[in-house]
Amino acid sequence: MRFSTIFVSAALTLAALSSSIIQATPVPVREPGAVIHEAIAADPHSAALVKRTSAGFNNWSCKPSALHPRPLVLVHGLSANAIDNWFYMAPRFVAKGYCVFALSYGQLYGIPIVYGLDKMENSAQQLSDYVDRVLKATNTTQVDILGHSQGSIMPRYYLRFLGGAPKFAAIGSIQYGTNILGLVNLLTPLGLYDPIKAVFDTVCLSCFQFLENSEFIKNLNAGGDTVPDVKYLMITSKLEETVTPYTNGFLRDKSPNVKNVVLQNDYCSLDVSEHALQAVDPIVFNAVHAFLTPSADQTINCLDALN
Ligand SMILES: *[C@@H]1O[C@H](CO)[C@@H](O)[C@H](O)[C@H]1NC(C)=O
Ligand SMILES: *[C@@H]1O[C@H](CO)[C@@H](O)[C@H](O)[C@H]1NC(C)=O
Repeated sequence: MRFSTIFVSAALTLAALSSSIIQATPVPVREPGAVIHEAIAADPHSAALVKRTSAGFNNWSCKPSALHPRPLVLVHGLSANAIDNWFYMAPRFVAKGYCVFALSYGQLYGIPIVYGLDKMENSAQQLSDYVDRVLKATNTTQVDILGHSQGSIMPRYYLRFLGGAPKFAAIGSIQYGTNILGLVNLLTPLGLYDPIKAVFDTVCLSCFQFLENSEFIKNLNAGGDTVPDVKYLMITSKLEETVTPYTNGFLRDKSPNVKNVVLQNDYCSLDVSEHALQAVDPIVFNAVHAFLTPSADQTINCLDALN
């Protein structure tokens, strides 16, 4: 889905919802179980998905193995949630032997299913709290993180200001924001940036943070975009319609710890994943698995699509 389409549909949906359910008090962070329960209650389609796909992840009794000693925390994108973003990848990581945990974060006004709307500083704090809970449950000291879209950038706020992780993989990477096919550069000259932002901020505090040169992005990347002792894998696609230009998905620090890849250049020229489809792409899955697990097959190519 195009970012602009997301913007418009999110704005309309949320404006309609929020008029009836906006509350004056902040909404507390929900337990993952409660989140899933609410999603199921609100949406039979999600219920079917959960039944079919959740087996094995968010298992708080999971014991990390010697091969995968660190739990893997999955971070969804804008307007998504732990289930609909990760129904493909989470069970596959479980099948490879990882302990896998996916949170839903950034809820506003108690609106169900549609997450990632709060400002990313708040969501990063939720991620931090969640990671602490995973560490405690699994009796470990470190997790690795995989994020998609908003999940490709919000965790960098966590890595820089709140906590750490040895490895961070990002898909649908959006490190320097999107210019929405150049649209963003037209807003200021037309005097529309602030008025449109004001409307969005009532229903989606993260939305304008994703734009190229937002205050959030400038702050996050000031003085360098990586932190020491974290290994980064940033996956982008030439077919991106959401992150434009797609090269804004690259990290720019010259560091041996950074690997920026373009699906079609580095893995498979025929790969058709644009932004959303990266979350259901076996080539992307294998690339992230290889990054997280050095003993895994490191050869990623078009044949991986047959998995
Ligand atoms: C959760 O993990 C425990 C410990 O490994 C295991 O015995 C149990 O079967 C798992 N539960 C599910 C639903 O996968
Ligand atoms: C947690 O891990 C530590 C260090 O590996 C170990 O000594 C301890 O027994 C573990 N605790 C539990 C409850 O498994």
